[in-house]
This record gives sequence, C-alpha cells and structure tokens, in this order.
Amino acid sequence: MDSAVEEKSPDQLRTDLVTQLLAKSWIRTPAVEAAFRAVPRHRFVPDAVTAAEAYQDTIVATKRGPDGKSMSTVSAPYLQAYMLEEAMLGPGSRVLEVGSGGYNAALAAEVVGPHGHVVTVDIDADIIANARAYLDRAGYPHVQVVHGDGELGYEPGGPFDAIIVTVEAGDISPHLVRQLAPGGRIVVPLRLRTLTRCLTLTRTGDHLTATAALQCGFVPMQGDRRQLARRLPLRGNDAVLLLDDPTDIDTAALASALSMPRVDVWAPVTITMQELRSFESLHVWLSSQPRPFGALAVDRQATLGLLDPQDRFTCPTLLTGDSFAYLAMRKTGDDTWQFGAHGFGPAAGPLTTDLVELIVAWDRGYRHGSGPDITVHPTGTPPAASGRVQLLVPRRDATIAITWPSPASPR
Ligand SMILES: C[S@@+](CC[C@H](N)C(=O)[O-])C[C@H]1O[C@@H](n2cnc3c(N)ncnc32)[C@H](O)[C@@H]1O
Repeated sequence: MDSAVEEKSPDQLRTDLVTQLLAKSWIRTPAVEAAFRAVPRHRFVPDAVTAAEAYQDTIVATKRGPDGKSMSTVSAPYLQAYMLEEAMLGPGSRVLEVGSGGYNAALAAEVVGPHGHVVTVDIDADIIANARAYLDRAGYPHVQVVHGDGELGYEPGGPFDAIIVTVEAGDISPHLVRQLAPGGRIVVPLRLRTLTRCLTLTRTGDHLTATAALQCGFVPMQGDRRQLARRLPLRGNDAVLLLDDPTDIDTAALASALSMPRVDVWAPVTITMQELRSFESLHVWLSSQPRPFGALAVDRQATLGLLDPQDRFTCPTLLTGDSFAYLAMRKTGDDTWQFGAHGFGPAAGPLTTDLVELIVAWDRGYRHGSGPDITVHPTGTPPAASGRVQLLVPRRDATIAITWPSPASPR
C-alpha cells in the first residue's frame, strides 16, 4: 500500500472514505453520512489489520473455514452504505441485523439514535463474542448482540422497521416476514437463480415486492435452514458449475465436453465497462429464461486458454445433458467489448446460437428498460402467469418470481 496512505491517521482515512462514498453516491443522506463519519471502522477489525486496510472500500476477512474460504467478513463500506440507505432508517427505528461483526450494527445505531434499537444476530459464537467486545469498546453497549440462527429472526425484539440481512440467503424466512412491522423493509442479498442480488423488499398484500436490486456477493448462510446452490466440479475446483435447478445433471458428461473443441460465436452487441448495470441486467435476463441454466465459476489462471467466461465468479451458462455454453466477451476497441458465446460438447452449436439470440433479444427489447419485476411469494401461492417472460424460482418457504415487462420498442 502507498506509504502516504499508511501514514494517515484513522480520522483522515475515515474522512477520505466518506468523501469517496459520497462521490459515488453510495451515501445519499446526511444521517448515513454522519454515521460513517462517527463510527471508527478500524476498531471493528482483527488486530493484524491496519487502519489503512480497514478504510479501503473492500471487505475485511475476519474468519475463514478449514477450506480457506471466508465464513465471516466486515462487508465492503459501499455495500454497507447502500444497504443502510435502502433500509430507510430514521430516529427511533427498530432494526434487526442478520450476520454480525459489530461495525454495521454501530452504523445503524448511529442512524436510529437513542430512541431506536438495534439487534444483531449471528450463528457463530466467536463472531458474537468479538462483536460484543468491539461494540462495547467503541461506545455502543446499547446494541443488542444475540447468538442464534438469524433465519429465525429475533421474536422478542420485533416488530422491526427494517431487517438487514448481511449474509447470502437462498430463501426468505417466514419468521423474518412475520417480524417485519407494517411498512417495514427487508434488505437482503437473495440468490435468485444462481445469481445474487441485494433486494429491497416491501410488503404488498400477501407477497413482497423488490423496489431495488443490486449485484453483490456475500458469504453463504449457515445453519439448518440454509439452502445453498449445488456445485458441480467440471475440472476440480478450477471450473465449477453452480446450479439451482433440481434437474439431474450428469457431471461427468459435462466435464468430458471440455475435451471437445470450443465453439465461439459472436453477437452484434457491444458494451463499455462503464455500463455496469447493463451487465447485471443481461445476467438476470439470461438466468430467467425457461431453459436449463447454471453459472460458471473459474480460476482464470488455471483454465487459461481453455475457458474465458465474461465473469469469473458467476457467468451465465446454458446447458443440455452433455453440453454447455457460457457468456463470453472480447475486446473490439479502446473501451468496447463484444458479447458472444463459447460452447463445449456435442450440442455446442445450437447452444451457442441460442445464447447469442438471447443476447440480441435483450439488446433490442430489454437493455434500456427498467429491468424485471422481482416479487417473493409464500410457497404455494405463486403469482398468476402474466404472459410475459417469467421465471419462478421455487424455494422451501418462498417462490421468487422474475417477470420481464413487455419489450421496449426497438432502438
Ligand atoms: C458478511 S458477515 C456479516 C458482516 C457484518 N454485518 C458487518 O458488520 O460487516 C456474515 C455473517 O453471517 C453469519 N451467518 C451465517 N449464517 C447465519 C445465520 N443462519 N444466522 C445468523 N448469522 C449467520 C456469519 O457467521 C458471518 O459472521
């Protein structure tokens, strides 16, 4: 790290971070700004983390599992700001945070003030012990820290004006919905069909409606109620296909497709790196088609020359029993990239053509629109079919409906 940054005081580093979050509009209100100015983030991280590291706009890992994967982190400041803004807290609000650490709960405590209440629940006893110690040390003894499964909520503390889930959820627990006050909001990183979006959910009659959706990544939920995506290793851990559909997949057949020559097809559709929301929109569009779908995650270095997906963590992928095709991208100008498809296996030809046609349909009818409606219904009460492009993702407690509006007029 730059030595000038290392030499700055924690107060200067915090001011710089707030300036950045304001400039990028992650902080939108004076109350959230004041909270970020007040809470010392560097006092909520392990001793080995320097203040300069703590004030980067990125996550700080706080606990890893035996496989080296993060089990707990202090989330990235931009996402914490986004979620707090989306929660629309005010003085006196009651808030439940699922997934603790201390810092985010302290931010919420600043926003709700002395007449509000913040409860933070974590399933991990170590995280709870640290969160309690950090909060006490930093002057937030009034934040309530609870050890338990956050998917059950915290009945004695409700009803809550906002529930902020800071761990990737595969479902919306009815306990959380029940503990939400009238007019309240759930802000939750919900896995749709393999892709996770931070949704802001409000109650509409018997269901919840998303008023905002942002691409994000969080550590996965733990506990008895968790519902994780399936991971199919196509080439050890270097290339893994994530699946949400309950369909039987022959992993060996898909893996052996990798030994066949790759088929590359390009779409007459380009993009620049500034259009981040368009990438998000295209991914959800591809994931919500009524076809077998997964997301490819690769180690770029280990698969160099073989796989080159547009996104290395969750790349939209169409499948058949023995073939697959993922979204690809190639550079065609200074900041211009062209979308296409790379396919493997006996059906690589039709799959890549299909994927390219879907990219073209998105570009013509959906790229510039407002995006899909995302609603969450108690399982057993799915929405009426609308005749528009609609995908239902059935989970144990809730069914997620992704409904695209009628296509915009061609441009
Ligand atoms: C990203 S961290 C939370 C970050 C924190 N809110 C902060 O201040 O930045 C996610 C946490 O969720 C916790 N977690 C995982 N499954 C959980 C569950 N079922 N109930 C409550 N907490 C859970 C993990 O132990 C981990 O500490």
